[in-house]
Amino acid sequence: MRLPVAVKVGAFALVVMGTYTYYANSIPQIQSKPPAELSLEGGNVTPAQLVKAGEEIFHTKGTCEICHRIGQKGTRAPDLAGIGARAGKTKPGMSAKQYIIESLLQPGAYLVEGYPNIMPQVDKPPIALNRSEVWALTAFLESQGGNVDVTLDDIPKTAGATAGGAPAEIKIPGDPKAGEVVFSTKGACIACHKAGKIGASPVGPDLSQIAKIQTPDYIMKKILDPAGSGTVAGFPKGVMPPMFGQTLTAKEYVDLVAFLLTLK
Ligand code: HEC
Ligand code: HEC
Repeated sequence: MRLPVAVKVGAFALVVMGTYTYYANSIPQIQSKPPAELSLEGGNVTPAQLVKAGEEIFHTKGTCEICHRIGQKGTRAPDLAGIGARAGKTKPGMSAKQYIIESLLQPGAYLVEGYPNIMPQVDKPPIALNRSEVWALTAFLESQGGNVDVTLDDIPKTAGATAGGAPAEIKIPGDPKAGEVVFSTKGACIACHKAGKIGASPVGPDLSQIAKIQTPDYIMKKILDPAGSGTVAGFPKGVMPPMFGQTLTAKEYVDLVAFLLTLK
């Protein structure tokens, strides 16, 4: 029989996660748009301009390259070389653009074989692309071996609707400085992970930019139940210890999460 994970911090963690969800849902959409925000709605744009804009997003705001490479295996995700060609053949009855759009907005709907369900929805924080940006990115991915035929109408009107410009800054009620200490001492995370200026171990993934590419929800669950979140590609299964829910106190856990959320 499998013991429930996180017996000790479980209930508390749920409250914290609940609070997070509450705040995330209650952030008013009033932030002013940062200048980097791309809006193409209503404008005339050629496919070439669209592809170029998408390429820029791929390399910068999209943070795609922390997980994916083009023409080279990334650590966490599939090589996207030729995606425009293979996208139309991946799911029967789905065109290339439909498959690519689904991959971006509902990454869990179809999983590339051998990879876990860890890609975040790109129109939600922390990546938080708007509808125009999803459009441009789709055009760029189609251009990798396929035809660029995506129009703004192909992108659901709801895409990016909750992003509201800059990703909402979520405050976890923990102390990042104390969390850094947990990371290097009691948690022993440092034995396997690099995290910004501290650590160097290659046993687990480099966490230096984890808050840029992952939701607080994923990070919190991963600590309590590493196997339940899938195994990051390129790393061994079952190596990350599953007992942090029992060994860390609630305060240590929340401080640790607060520290991890500073890594971006
Ligand atoms: C945290 C890591 C991560 C980030 C960040 C990420 N992805 Fe992914 N992506 C994955 C993983 C893992 C898969 C394979 C599992 C799946 O199908 O969801 C994947 C799958 C895909 C696929 C389907 C690939 C195929 O061969 O069918 C596309 C397209 C894609 N990602 C595009 C992007 C783009 C564009 C970005 C940036 C906006 C991005 N991803 C950001 C991890 C990530
Ligand atoms: C004995 C080695 C080991 C220790 C100790 C360890 N981890 Fe891990 N961790 C791994 C490995 C290996 C992976 C990748 C495989 C997987 O997903 O399970 C991983 C994955 C992760 C991920 C997901 C990274 C990503 O790119 O999606 C996070 C977050 C993480 N660990 C946080 C922690 C924290 C926080 C601690 C300390 C409380 C910790 N780990 C302790 C080995 C370890």
